[in-house]
Amino acid sequence: MSFLGGKRLRRVRQAEWSRAMVRETELLPRDLIWPLFVIEGQNEKTAVRTMPGVERLSIDLLVEAARAARDAGIPALALFPNTPDHLRSIDAEEAYNPNNLMCRALDAIKSAVPEIGLIADVALDEYSANGQDGLVRDGEILNDETVTAMIKSALVQARAGADIIAPSDMMDGRVAAIRAALDAEGFERVQIMSYAAKYASCFYGPFREAVGSGSRLTGDKRTYQMDFANSDEALREIEQDLIEGADSIMIKPGLPYLDIIRRAKDAFNVPIYAYQVSGEYAMIEMAGAAGAINRDAAVLESLWAFKRAGANGILTYFALEMARKLGR
Ligand code: PBG
Repeated sequence: MSFLGGKRLRRVRQAEWSRAMVRETELLPRDLIWPLFVIEGQNEKTAVRTMPGVERLSIDLLVEAARAARDAGIPALALFPNTPDHLRSIDAEEAYNPNNLMCRALDAIKSAVPEIGLIADVALDEYSANGQDGLVRDGEILNDETVTAMIKSALVQARAGADIIAPSDMMDGRVAAIRAALDAEGFERVQIMSYAAKYASCFYGPFREAVGSGSRLTGDKRTYQMDFANSDEALREIEQDLIEGADSIMIKPGLPYLDIIRRAKDAFNVPIYAYQVSGEYAMIEMAGAAGAINRDAAVLESLWAFKRAGANGILTYFALEMARKLGR
């Protein structure tokens, strides 16, 4: 008789076959959504200094990437434009130019690789002169004026072939407004994936370099993105977006916010996506390159953690590499 009374939790961990039998969650290619950065040009790719291994791609190369993603079993891509400087303005009108970089990218992929889902980010920071997600007057971020511009942006994206509109701005009321506008134009089949609980985070730094908004950003985004001290408030944000008609919700950043994913999963029976953001990507790549951690092991463990926390899928810059590995 052992002092444990026979209870040994290690018993099931003694062999790989047994660990496989008791494994509670899976990580599959279809769990991975690949965020991609688009630039103007032909056969053009540019490195993102703070995201080793990530490149912005011109539309022709983006189409190639979409084919590779489809072949690896990735269900959807999330596109982000790096708008040329001369097209950025205080009013961010380029956001609703039907011929903007984003719309041309959506259209090109939709015709060449119709099997893959296309998620279009809607926010003004990729088009505005000051890198803010909302229109600014006298230092204040205007809510309703911003929503009006976002409606126009969502509509040009839907016309260009977006399957999922993903507002990433955290303005109030934008899900209902975009839903109504889409329906009125006959786009009732276009989904809305709302960045429902998006925190004002330092982990977006490399992304802002990638889309070219970081160097122009004045101030912070704390009057619209959430305070990292809060989690009850995240549930209110999610509930509100669901009431307004969101088909799925996103929580962002990723790993530091697994508690929010779990609370959301327990509270709502809806598809929940996590965004492993640019700073998280950079930390893993750079710590790996410095020999501080095993990079490949860190990628796998970090992605699996999202599934364990309750996410239905993960937006991650590791998507293509990992979908290929997991598919084998
Ligand atoms: C823009 C947007 C951001 C990200 C996605 N959409 C940056 C921000 O809000 O400043 C961040 C993604 C990442 O860091 O990988 N609204």
